[in-house]
Amino acid sequence: MIDPAAFTRDAIERLRRDVPTTAIVAASGGIDSTAAALLAQRALGDRARAIFVDTGLLRAGEVERTRAYFARAGLAHRVVDAAPRFFAALAGVADPEEKRRRIGEAFIRLFEDEAAAFQTDRLIQGTIAPDWIESGGGSRDTIKTHHNVGGVPADSRLVLVEPLRDLYKDEVRTLARYLGIPDSDRQPFPGPGLAVRVQGPVTPERVAWAREANAIVEAEVEAAVARGEVERPWQYFAVLLPVRAVGVTGDNRVYGDVVVVRAVRSTDAMTASVVPLSFDLLGRIAQRITRQLSPHVVRVLYDVTDKPPATIEWE
Ligand code: XMP
Repeated sequence: MIDPAAFTRDAIERLRRDVPTTAIVAASGGIDSTAAALLAQRALGDRARAIFVDTGLLRAGEVERTRAYFARAGLAHRVVDAAPRFFAALAGVADPEEKRRRIGEAFIRLFEDEAAAFQTDRLIQGTIAPDWIESGGGSRDTIKTHHNVGGVPADSRLVLVEPLRDLYKDEVRTLARYLGIPDSDRQPFPGPGLAVRVQGPVTPERVAWAREANAIVEAEVEAAVARGEVERPWQYFAVLLPVRAVGVTGDNRVYGDVVVVRAVRSTDAMTASVVPLSFDLLGRIAQRITRQLSPHVVRVLYDVTDKPPATIEWE
């Protein structure tokens, strides 16, 4: 476990050394990049500009929530609306690795534009150890190419600065608490966003369904946690599958989509075990998803697989 005060001192020193003039910071609203952005702000002041990208792949209310969250953390930032850019980059792409590459590249191209506007070539990112370990390289197998590792095009003139590279998730949480980041125990959300929770091609319509299903899972699980009915899972979400199934709405047969619900406990995301949500809770989730997304979604499943052999996300 790290000593957060010593880590912060060293990180500030390294940032000052690695950033001679100015830098932009990729700030997703997650704990990793918020911690990196706050370290950059402490090290560089106005010479660091945090940028939050609305990719169109975010959860319900996330832009507003993130703005408020940054305000509470004391992080100055700029919001860029880039949904059309990301949907164009993802058009027709079903393969998860290709999605991550396209998203990574779209982020980098956008950051190149932002860096040029801020007259810098330095991009500070909140990459942590599992991101690059799972992305392979050297003698390691690729488990999945995290968007912030595999997506940097060879011709990019951006120089990456990654102050959290050697930290694991639980260490980032310790650091985040030390830096005064509010609510640092909330669940992680992947950088590629809902694109990896829509299996198969990513369209604005399917992302909207996945967004609504995720909002229902979060609301129902959080309500059950607040009532003391279930432990708070480390991560809990919904995935829209590329599988169709028959259902009935009223007197009509429909051939609709399938959503899978997942809730896991973990400490560092490297392993995870399933949280046994009650049948009552799962039933409520299934009812709300199929009602609110009728006639598009006709079936809801529960994933009971640990990591390993599965990963936490489905892609
Ligand atoms: P997996 O699915 O690999 O997920 O078991 C481990 C943790 O990482 C998150 N995750 C990602 N985070 N970019 C991210 O920033 C990604 O490409 C990515 N893929 C997975 C996942 O939500 C879980 O917390």
